[in-house]
Formats: sequence, structure tokens, C-alpha cells
Amino acid sequence: MGRKLRHLLMFLLITMKEPNLQVDGWWLSTPKAADCKCAPSTDLSCKPSPRCDCHGLGLISIPKNLPKSICRLDLYNNQIRKIKPGAFPNLPRLQKLYLKRNQIKIFQICVFANLPQLEKLDLSFNQITIIQSSASENLINLKQLYLSSNQLTIIQPSAFSNLPRLQLLNLSNNKIRNIQPGTFANLPRLENLILSAINMTMIQPGVFSNLPRLQGLCLSNNEITMIQPGTFANLPRLGKLVLSDNQMRIISLGLLANLPRLQLLFLSDNQITKIQPGTFANLTRLEKLNLASNQITKIKPGTFANLSRLEELNLAVNQITMIQEGPNSNIALSNLNTTATVVTSGHGQTGRGQSQAITESNTNTYLQDHVHTLPAEVFDQFSRHLAKCALAHREAAEREARRIILSNLFITCDHTSIGLLDRHRILALFEKFWDG
Ligand SMILES: *[C@@H]1O[C@H](CO)[C@@H](O)[C@H](O)[C@H]1NC(C)=O
Ligand SMILES: *[C@@H]1O[C@H](CO)[C@@H](O)[C@H](O)[C@H]1NC(C)=O
Ligand SMILES: *[C@@H]1O[C@H](CO)[C@@H](O)[C@H](O)[C@H]1NC(C)=O
Ligand SMILES: *[C@@H]1O[C@H](CO)[C@@H](O)[C@H](O)[C@H]1NC(C)=O
Ligand SMILES: *[C@@H]1O[C@H](CO)[C@@H](O)[C@H](O)[C@H]1NC(C)=O
Repeated sequence: MGRKLRHLLMFLLITMKEPNLQVDGWWLSTPKAADCKCAPSTDLSCKPSPRCDCHGLGLISIPKNLPKSICRLDLYNNQIRKIKPGAFPNLPRLQKLYLKRNQIKIFQICVFANLPQLEKLDLSFNQITIIQSSASENLINLKQLYLSSNQLTIIQPSAFSNLPRLQLLNLSNNKIRNIQPGTFANLPRLENLILSAINMTMIQPGVFSNLPRLQGLCLSNNEITMIQPGTFANLPRLGKLVLSDNQMRIISLGLLANLPRLQLLFLSDNQITKIQPGTFANLTRLEKLNLASNQITKIKPGTFANLSRLEELNLAVNQITMIQEGPNSNIALSNLNTTATVVTSGHGQTGRGQSQAITESNTNTYLQDHVHTLPAEVFDQFSRHLAKCALAHREAAEREARRIILSNLFITCDHTSIGLLDRHRILALFEKFWDG
């Protein structure tokens, strides 16, 4: 039997056995039904299959006669307002339930009693105002819960008390404002908590105190003005903290003292005016620090000391006039990884969205694109001009800082009045400054 024919037969065998599985490419990539990796289906009619796709059908209630074998149920983009207890038949294998973009007003945990294997529940873009919890352990296997873009104003402290395996909780885009201590107290496996755009103005002490596995915490797009030291004191695994787009003027000393695993810290778009020495002193694993779009005027010596793993520091759109040297000629940036990118372009008035990393290769590209042949006297004039500018800057920084300043310097220096430049000579000159 020819290879093609054999492949075709295998293909038919598989597709006949599992009529709604998508076979992308050849039979080798067919998902195994036993793993419940049910492939997307174009079938809208909820036939027996690992997945029922019932989205966008104008449904006002949960369809009846759903096959027991399904692992995924798509009910998004319908007009379901209420799910009555018992509305779901017994679906012993169901793992994923998409109820996004309906008109549900109440999230009643008890209605999911017949779905013992449920791992992912998407209720985003509904009109939920209340979460009604229950003492029974109905969602004991739930790992991901999406309640974003609803109308939640209050969360009862017991709302999430029986979700022992929850890993991701997305509450963004609500109007919660104030989260009570204890709300997240029984989520021992929570890894990601998204609380962006919930009109939060302050964080009560203890809100994040029982989250031993939390890795990502997003608090962006709120109205937080200040965070008390100790708020993040018990998050031993936190790797990513997003505090951008708030109204913080100051970072309390000690706020970031106990985050031994923090790798990403986003503080952009706040109103931070100064950074106290020691603020980042214990963040020895930090790789990215974004302080763009604040009102920082001065970077004191040692501010970024101990950040030996920092790869990217963004200070764009601030009002920095001074980056001070330390006593042992340790400038603020002296402990930066030499491959680090420091972004300082777009100071002051330029507004948002101007950040641009200027690296050696960017500069080279710039030179390649803009510099052509140049008469000797013009080149000399240019080099003197550049040297003059450079001299003033040279004392300001050690090698790492000088690299950045020179990149900026070249671009801001008035070379238009000099004429066209010889690419190779400029590159050579640059290299000399670079290494000097
Ligand atoms: C949280 O929900 C918002 C709004 O639906 C969405 O934009 C965001 O990507 C979600 N984040 C995560 C990590 O699920
Ligand atoms: C909530 O925040 C949004 C923007 O994040 C704002 O437009 C709205 O006015 C705020 N609502 C209240 C009640 O503060
Ligand atoms: C750094 O952490 C240690 C303990 O891990 C603590 O004693 C010290 O106060 C912290 N220092 C700062 C500046 O936060
Ligand atoms: C750097 O960290 C060490 C401990 O790892 C600490 O003793 C020292 O004070 C820190 N340096 C600064 C400038 O905070
Ligand atoms: C510097 O950063 C680069 C890029 O992430 C990394 O490969 C290198 O190991 C780092 N060097 C040090 C000394 O940390």
C-alpha cells in the first residue's frame, strides 16, 4: 500500500472515531481525547464531542442534553442572565467553561456543583455584582477564574474561601475600590492575581499576607497613592510586581525589602519624585525595572547598587538632571550588568510613548543610515565639536554611563550645520570614546 494511501486511511480512521477533532497537519498531531486536549471545532450544534461549541447562538439558558463526555463547553457571546441551580447536567469530565460576554448578574458557586473537574471558568464581561459563595467544595479543582470586566463593587471575604487549587484570579476592570483583609486568605496555590483597573485607592494591611505561591501581582491602572511598608512582606515567590499607572509619589522605604525573587518591577506612570537610597537594595534578582513617566529629578549614589542582575532600567520621561557619583567613584549605575540597556531618552515634556532604548547597535544603525562621505576639514570640525561636548560629559560617568550619554550626545549634537560625515571615521571615533 502506498504511503499516501496509508496516511489517508489512518486519517479517516481517526476522524471517524472522533468526529469533531481537528487534525492540524497530519495524523501525528491529532490530540488525544484521553488528555482532554480537545481541538477547536467549527461545529456549532453541540453534537457529541469532547467539546461543545455553543457560542453566539443567542441562548438565554444553559442548553439541555449536553453530552456527558465533553471536556470543554463554549457558551460565550450569548444572552444568559441567570444560571439556576441544577442548570448544568452532570458533566464529569468538563474542564473548561466559557461564559464570557453574557448578562449574568450573580456568580453563585453552587450552580457548578455538577462539574467536579472544572479547571477554568471564564465569566468575564458579564454584569456580575455579587459573588455568592458556598460552604461546599464545588469548585475544588478550579485553577483559573476570570471575573474581569464585571460590575463588582464589593467582595465578601468568604467569596473565594473554597477554591483550594486556584492558580489564577483575574478581577480586573471592576469597581471594587477596597479589598478586605482575608479575601485571599484561603488561596494557598494562587500564582497570579490581577487587580488592575478596579479603582483601588489604598491597600489594607494584610490583604496579601497569605499567598505563599504568588508569582505575579498586578495592581496597575488604579488610584493608589501610597503603599504601607509590609504590604508585600510575605510573598516569598513574587517574581513580577506591576504598579504602573497609579498615583504614587513615593515608594516607602522597606516596601520592597522582602521580595527575594522579584525579577520584574513596573513603576511607570506614577508621580514619583524621588527615590530614597536603599529602596531597591534587597532586590538582588531584579532584571527589569521600569521607572518611566514619573517626576524623578535626581538619582542618588547607590540607588541601583546590589542590582547585579539588572538587564533593563527605564528612566525615560522623567526630569532627571543629575545622576550622582558615589564616594568610591561608584556611580549609581556601576553595578549594572554591562549588557544592560538603560533607557533615558524622552526626558520631560515629550509626553508618553517616547521611550526608546539607545544601544550600541541602534547608534551604529543610525550612523549607517545617515552618514555619508565627508571632507577632511569638516570631519575635523565635527570631531572637535563632538570632543567639546564629550568632555563635559566625560567626567560625569564611568564607562557604562558614558556609553549611553555618548549615544544621546551624538544624536543631540548639532551636526546638521557641519554637513555630511564619513561613516567609517565617525564609527572609529565612536569606538575610541566608547572604550576610553
Ligand atoms: C485579565 O482580564 C483582562 C480583561 O479581561 C485581560 O485584558 C487580561 O489579559 C487578563 N489577564 C490575565 C493574566 O488573564
Ligand atoms: C474608576 O476608574 C476609572 C478609570 O480607571 C475612572 O474613569 C472612573 O471615573 C473611576 N470611577 C470611580 C467611581 O472612581
Ligand atoms: C534586606 O533584607 C534583610 C533580611 O532579608 C533585612 O534585614 C534588611 O532590613 C533588608 N534591607 C533593606 C534595605 O530593605
Ligand atoms: C547589598 O546587599 C547586602 C546584603 O546582600 C547588604 O548588606 C548591603 O547593605 C546592600 N547594599 C546596599 C547599598 O544596600
Ligand atoms: C548579563 O546579562 C546577560 C543577558 O541577560 C546574561 O547573559 C549575562 O549572564 C549577565 N551577566 C552577569 C555577570 O550577570
